[in-house]
Amino acid sequence: MEQHEQWNSKLGFVLAAAGSAIGLGAIWKFPYVAGTGGGGAFFLIFLLFTLLLGFPMLIGEFVIGRNAQSDAISAYRKLKPNSNWSFVGKIGVFTNFLLLSFYSVVGGWIILYIIEAVRGNLHGLPQDQYGQLFGETIANPISTLLAQLVFILLTIVVVAKGVQQGIEKASKFMMPALYILFFIIVIRSLTLDGAMQGVEFLLVPDFTNLTSETILFALGQAFFTLSVGASTMVTYASYLPKKQNLITSALAIIIMNILIALLAGLAIFPGVLSFGLEPNAGPVLIFAVLPAVFDQLQFGVVFLLAFLILFLFAALTSAFSMVEIIVATLTKNNPKKRKPYTWMIGILIFIVGIPSCLSYGVLADVTLFNKTFFDLVDFLVSNILLPSGALLISIFLSQRVSKSMLFEELKQGSTIGKGFFTGWIFLMKYVVPIAIIIVFLDALGVLDRFISLF
Ligand code: PHE
Repeated sequence: MEQHEQWNSKLGFVLAAAGSAIGLGAIWKFPYVAGTGGGGAFFLIFLLFTLLLGFPMLIGEFVIGRNAQSDAISAYRKLKPNSNWSFVGKIGVFTNFLLLSFYSVVGGWIILYIIEAVRGNLHGLPQDQYGQLFGETIANPISTLLAQLVFILLTIVVVAKGVQQGIEKASKFMMPALYILFFIIVIRSLTLDGAMQGVEFLLVPDFTNLTSETILFALGQAFFTLSVGASTMVTYASYLPKKQNLITSALAIIIMNILIALLAGLAIFPGVLSFGLEPNAGPVLIFAVLPAVFDQLQFGVVFLLAFLILFLFAALTSAFSMVEIIVATLTKNNPKKRKPYTWMIGILIFIVGIPSCLSYGVLADVTLFNKTFFDLVDFLVSNILLPSGALLISIFLSQRVSKSMLFEELKQGSTIGKGFFTGWIFLMKYVVPIAIIIVFLDALGVLDRFISLF
């Protein structure tokens, strides 16, 4: 058998894993779910979930992946031979598949907006008109489907080339640029009239309107932005050498992720409130607000275009990881088949994504459980599958695998002591599963009914 591929450098892995984590989740989804969930309270709960559940989970997926050195499905089998735990990997593969089916729709929207920016259509409008412009743009079935297809093709071309040449190279230069551009736009945002209202909205928690659904969304968001719960990071960590420090890698990713979500929030909410827009506009929020903010900058169109291109890169590096986990399981015994499998997966994902793509146009009125197809798939992936996956992984690691093996694995490349390890196991064994179960029960209304019994 061929030797399992590896990342080229320590930094290469961190950048690629951060590339998977940082994407639409922090930049597009965070502002709109925070906006719908009431701002500050959502942000605070999201932070708590990220630190207490997301961080240990990320380390957990790294440990599984590096120890097993194999694809997501076989990894569970390797750590626990003769068991059925590989179904966690199978659910992960399915989750990534479904995830990319609507993720690519939003990726397509970015591509369409790049084209609009180049054509000079994204400046000079009254501030409240950009939302309408965007609504019209994504209602067009032909162009949105084509753009979605282009997004998927870009993803496939890179993944088909293999881990090292493709993903690592692409991840290396886009990150710093994205942060710098966000920084510029945040400074402009914060100097808008009435900007402080937006800052308050994001940073000052107001628990009066907090609902069970908001808490569920914050939970889903914490896992979504870190790419945990679907074994994606298991796959990425399987390409790691033993000298990598898993803990500092995870910490770096957590910090980068929180920072970018914060920057996205600070870039958007001052504009939303200053321009008299609604924070709960939903998935269109960032597209409706940012062009108006960039319009307030000298050479705003140029900056907007640069931003959109980096935004697209961020979305692509996340998409790479989704396809990679699927392709890795399919090609484990046959690395030469990488190309055809990647293409096949891409085409299937496109087909499955068609109804999501049309949800903002011809299928806008078709709803199930009060949600459009797009919203439904997003909800299923973000708020059901990822937390359930995380629940299973936490149980698997803390109760089914030998502790000494876990400790040995975590120690490689790092200098942690028994104390850190015990703390991590405690989080994985109690805090992660119990929190997820409580949030689930709460969202189902079971908790309320139970409490009212007393
Ligand atoms: N973390 C990615 C983002 O924020 C999404 C993702 C989730 C990717 C789960 C892979 C697995 O855009």
